[in-house]
Amino acid sequence: MVKAILFDMDGVLIDSEEYISKAAIEYFHSMGVMVSGEDFIPFIGAGENRYIGGVAEKYGVEIEIEEAKLATYEIYRRLIMGKEEALPGVVRFITNAHKANIPMSVATSADPTKMEINLEVMNLDRSWFKSLVHGKDIERKKPFPDIYEKAAGKMNIVASDCIVFEDATNGVESAKRAGALCGGITTSFTSDDLLGKGADFIISGLSDFPDFSTIEEFNALITLFVGREKAILARENAYVPYSKYKVGASILSRKSGLLYSGCNVENGSYGATICAERGAIMKGISIEGKLDIAMVVVVTDDYPAAPPCAMCLQVLSEFTSPEASIYLCDLKGHITHYYFKELLPLPFVFPDI
Ligand code: THU
Repeated sequence: MVKAILFDMDGVLIDSEEYISKAAIEYFHSMGVMVSGEDFIPFIGAGENRYIGGVAEKYGVEIEIEEAKLATYEIYRRLIMGKEEALPGVVRFITNAHKANIPMSVATSADPTKMEINLEVMNLDRSWFKSLVHGKDIERKKPFPDIYEKAAGKMNIVASDCIVFEDATNGVESAKRAGALCGGITTSFTSDDLLGKGADFIISGLSDFPDFSTIEEFNALITLFVGREKAILARENAYVPYSKYKVGASILSRKSGLLYSGCNVENGSYGATICAERGAIMKGISIEGKLDIAMVVVVTDDYPAAPPCAMCLQVLSEFTSPEASIYLCDLKGHITHYYFKELLPLPFVFPDI
């Protein structure tokens, strides 16, 4: 179970890229050096020393990097204050986590000055964060695991008990090397880039989280997102030469907490086709024996997403309970929730079993 939350800052809590680049351009212009936005592109994500220092080198200007950064941050503060705010859903998410008593920390590679300005811009209650770790607190930057290990350590929690929210490939690598679960956010990179570095699931932002009021509910949502990701991946392998209709499914075993996924496998003798849900169930039973399925996630490319067919529901009825959750997902982020009893109120039950 996840015990604490670690946030990267830029691209997760706030999107400040545009303002830092405008500030850096204005700084160089004030020095009489006519740089353009494109000059900074090779240095995005390389840390602020490179971001400003790299362009100074390109134009052959001598600057004192700490002074240059402070001057740039002053411009940045003026440009961003009152214009930007926390990304959609951030304040709601953090308020939910605070009320649910889940420890939270920020771990950003940015300089402390920029971190402070961003916290001010977002108007977040700093006392809600157990620690704020910045770029000057650590030697080895992301993708090394140090920053997340340090932030977790400051909460007296091991990183492997934390979830990290990250939008950058280097950050995902850092989180995974620290042993944390990692939710990838697609502000700056594609889902494939983030999954390639080991992200456990992808969301478009913290706004994808519905409200939660306890740490158990928060963990159930994480399991849903991980289950959806596994179903999306399994769906890619669907063998559908006849219908061309791909389905992916994941089931959660209550006993082990493990997720099993499957895809639909069609057959030239059409009736021999096996649905994704039944594929996942067979996989789980072959590992654990009789299952108690706590959750099912089905992914199709339809909205509203397609529910399990009656045959799959009948098979499920043997291994689940009326209150089990069935989530129907499409590829655009919509999720619909049903209880099993709503989809199959009256399964056939063999007498005496
Ligand atoms: N299919 C599933 O995988 N799950 C369901 O619950 C409904 C249908 C598949 C079977 C077939 O390969 C395709 O969708 C079209 O019927």
